[in-house]
Amino acid sequence: MERPIRVLFVCLGNICRSPLAEGVFREHVRRAGLAASFEIGSAGTGGWHVGDPPDRRMIGTARGHGVELTSRGRQLVAPDLRFYDVILAMDRDNLHDILFLDPDREFADRVRLFREYDPEPGDYQVPDPYYGEQDGFDHVYRMVDRTSAALLGALAAHYGLSADPR
Ligand code: 4NP
Repeated sequence: MERPIRVLFVCLGNICRSPLAEGVFREHVRRAGLAASFEIGSAGTGGWHVGDPPDRRMIGTARGHGVELTSRGRQLVAPDLRFYDVILAMDRDNLHDILFLDPDREFADRVRLFREYDPEPGDYQVPDPYYGEQDGFDHVYRMVDRTSAALLGALAAHYGLSADPR
């Protein structure tokens, strides 16, 4: 593809899971030397945290792994489904709410559960750590990290990009 591949991560609040996936996936892309080949974003299906930075616990967890989360909360809008090539839902509620914005299912083939790419077996959903303890954030970090690596491998193969690990 001539233009960058557009990838959007979606959760409920856009302050925990999807900003983490955005930041971690971007870091994998950067390390692979593929930054110019991707345009990466995140959004929430809900509007409570529009304009907010990510949750401070999520920022701290990511920073511990050398990943800075710099996004601000924004709510998913219908034109996102036309703009982005790949739209990754953190859980099944998110998937349902994304497709609600596309009643004619024009773009449904762009929408997937993020954890379809997880190399480890699981229930295909990233649990919301928001109301839990720190270990929930660490658990979500590991899940998002390995799934982001696999996602990049799958997209690179699909779009014929050669990763340049350094
Ligand atoms: P997220 O977590 O969907 O991973 O960003 C949430 C954070 C806040 C709320 C919901 C989910 N909330 O309702 O405020």
